[in-house]
Amino acid sequence: MSVGDVNRISTGSVELDSVLGGGFPAGSLIVVTGPPGTGKTIFAANWIYNNIKKFGEKGLYVNFVEGHKSFIENMRSLGLDFEELERTGKFRFLESVTLKESGIPAIFEQILSEIVNTKASMLVIDSFSAISQVMEKPYEARIFAHTILSKIVRDMGCTTMLIIEKAGVEENYEVTEFLSDFIINLSKTEVSGALLRYLRILKARGTEIRQQRLAFTLKDGFNVFKPVSISGLPESTKKFKIVPHGNYYYSSGIQDLDRIVGIMFSKGCYNLLEIERDVTLPPERLFRVTVSNVLNQGGCVVILPPQGLSALTVWNSLEPFVYKDALNRNLKIVDFKATVVEKVEPHAILFEGKSLREDMLCFWNAITDFRIKHNRPVFTIVGFDTLEYVYGKEEVLKILGADLSRVRNFGDIRLNIIRSECNIVESLRSLASVHLIVRELCGAFFLQGIKPKTPLLNIDVHIDEETEIRLTPVL
Ligand SMILES: Nc1ncnc2c1ncn2[C@@H]1O[C@H](COP(=O)(O)OP(=O)(O)O)[C@@H](O)[C@H]1O
Ligand SMILES: [Mg+2]
Repeated sequence: MSVGDVNRISTGSVELDSVLGGGFPAGSLIVVTGPPGTGKTIFAANWIYNNIKKFGEKGLYVNFVEGHKSFIENMRSLGLDFEELERTGKFRFLESVTLKESGIPAIFEQILSEIVNTKASMLVIDSFSAISQVMEKPYEARIFAHTILSKIVRDMGCTTMLIIEKAGVEENYEVTEFLSDFIINLSKTEVSGALLRYLRILKARGTEIRQQRLAFTLKDGFNVFKPVSISGLPESTKKFKIVPHGNYYYSSGIQDLDRIVGIMFSKGCYNLLEIERDVTLPPERLFRVTVSNVLNQGGCVVILPPQGLSALTVWNSLEPFVYKDALNRNLKIVDFKATVVEKVEPHAILFEGKSLREDMLCFWNAITDFRIKHNRPVFTIVGFDTLEYVYGKEEVLKILGADLSRVRNFGDIRLNIIRSECNIVESLRSLASVHLIVRELCGAFFLQGIKPKTPLLNIDVHIDEETEIRLTPVL
């Protein structure tokens, strides 16, 4: 792997490699910092593992905290089989439980001879903090760091990762951080009760960084979520993979979501998709997978688009994904009289924009027509932000009861859409059976279940023979 004339060594994560212009420059010193439990050991292990497996490197892992057996077992639970790499002589694990007795110079000599014997091109010291703790004088740690840098990194060309346990980024820079070429800081935080893990690239010698903060998961190793808010989610014109409905519910069209939430979109229920302020993902990209899934299985759909979408935008966004017949026969979209264009006029429900009750009657009637004609529940979407914007909160609250009773009594299936900053958001939250929020964090898009609670789920588009939306939890 090389960019220009600098040899790069993969970070172990394809997404992080692309942010760093190919990876870490080979023969550099990398410092990984963060509080306990943030994934430093897994990051380092994943780095070594992938470079051995994919690029034929050799690695040495010096662990002052954890024993061999526990390391191997933990890593196996993440899908990283280090035993196999040990058998083939590509990986060595050095446990230094007796650090205090052997003393630093002896440990250092041992590391040096292991690197020479195994011809390791990668070294992890987990953790440098454990070494500093047993040193009597602060300058000893400095000398040790200098020696690692000059002998192991620069002379032997062994790319080295030092792990440092520390709580905040703001703490005084330790000597190792001055000497390092790269500093990666790992953190974790909570978003409405769900775990968010992210890394920050605090220093990257000779590398231009566009996205400094990246979210990741420890599911199946160390996996960084591709930042897509600038480039957007990948587009596709291939139809979505069909996900069948159940007896009492309609599928969301996203297999992962149905599985995680349990029953998605039960008959006779209000469901809510809340879009956080500042989410740049266009709303039609959020619901078109669900709408296509209903239409392509012969269902009927009536849409009152969220703020900013005309009937035409919605129609155009669905066209490549839905069979022509279904689109022409089973779909109706609300538009306002002044704005509707010819192409969608036959499929439009025209709102005057004066009396909400009168306009909603047209909407409810269109649903009833479909239900009578097809004798099955109708899937409806209502962008309540549009209603609030056009008619005002008070008017919307007046029709809410009637609207909900209709959904309940006729057993239809409703997905309401709202922006978090709208005034009626609280009322919709309390009436929803399933409540999901869309968020944009560290440049990536996430779906999160509030009712029922789910982890943060990264949204990704997988394009193969068909298009499929995949959700990966932050663990
Ligand atoms: N098999 C696994 N799947 C998902 N997460 C795991 C797994 N094993 C451990 N973890 C998580 O990894 C975290 C510990 O990672 P680790 O790399 O040991 O952190 P650090 O070295 O920063 O203390 C824990 O928070 C734990 O929840
Ligand atoms: Mg650790």
